[in-house]
Amino acid sequence: MTHPSVLVASNIVKDLGHGAGSVRALKGVSLDLRAGELTLLMGPSGSGKTTLLSILGCILTPTEGTLTVAGNSTSGLNAEALADLRRRHVGFIFQSYNLFPTLTAEENVRLALDVRGERGADVAARAQRALQQVGLGHRMKSYPGNMSGGEQQRVAVARAIAGKPSVILADEPTAALDSENGNAVMELLSEIASGVGAEHAVLAVTHDPRTMKYADRILKIEDGRIVGEERRPDGVDTIHQIARGKKRKTDAKS
Ligand SMILES: Nc1ncnc2c1ncn2[C@@H]1O[C@H](COP(=O)(O)OP(=O)(O)OP(=O)(O)O)[C@@H](O)[C@H]1O
Ligand SMILES: [Mg+2]
Repeated sequence: MTHPSVLVASNIVKDLGHGAGSVRALKGVSLDLRAGELTLLMGPSGSGKTTLLSILGCILTPTEGTLTVAGNSTSGLNAEALADLRRRHVGFIFQSYNLFPTLTAEENVRLALDVRGERGADVAARAQRALQQVGLGHRMKSYPGNMSGGEQQRVAVARAIAGKPSVILADEPTAALDSENGNAVMELLSEIASGVGAEHAVLAVTHDPRTMKYADRILKIEDGRIVGEERRPDGVDTIHQIARGKKRKTDAKS
């Protein structure tokens, strides 16, 4: 069984800046993201990775090209409608965690559900489940300042997945972590993509070749263009295994 595309981008062009300082950061990028897959986006500094993530996550609008997120075309949407699409369907993870220091881990995760307009006792339970899923069931009441970098990033992962978005976008999520914590975060992202129901597509920007072993697919970007795509040779089998309810974790570790 092939999982459906949850994000489709076609011929995305993005100009940044104005006048003489204007830069064509993306020069016609097309890609699709499927539920159940962890895709890595790799490329040199300035190649357009963050710009692409910002467009796929409905933070920036493309100069040209079209984007469909969870079946919704973004063409013609105003800022408010785009923000709503983002809140409902996209989870972000940043290099610097971006947690609120005055809120506990649980409150940081709950906030992501609150801004989606979700209310009630169920919200607390869902935030707690998301933290348990990232292995932080014992740190729910801790503040970010009392947690390690790896733990803080796992809170950020919990925040991204709590609302069950179709797409999770991570911009260099391991860059601030040592290799052990970086590996733990990548393994988590791989598990989230391939987990029960395979309900998320995950796209992670990375410079780190050590993270490649976790990927189902690697996209290479240079100078605003996708210049290469590699897929795990066992990618199709992997998806079949997930469809049969087997987890891929052991296979990803080998
Ligand atoms: N606000 C802006 N105005 C003008 N040019 C910009 C702006 N933001 C980014 N750029 C340019 O757009 C290009 C792509 O930038 P982007 O941040 O997407 O690169 P990146 O691949 O994420 O790089 P890095 O690996 O360093 O994070 C670069 O040439 C950058 O200088
Ligand atoms: Mg960047």
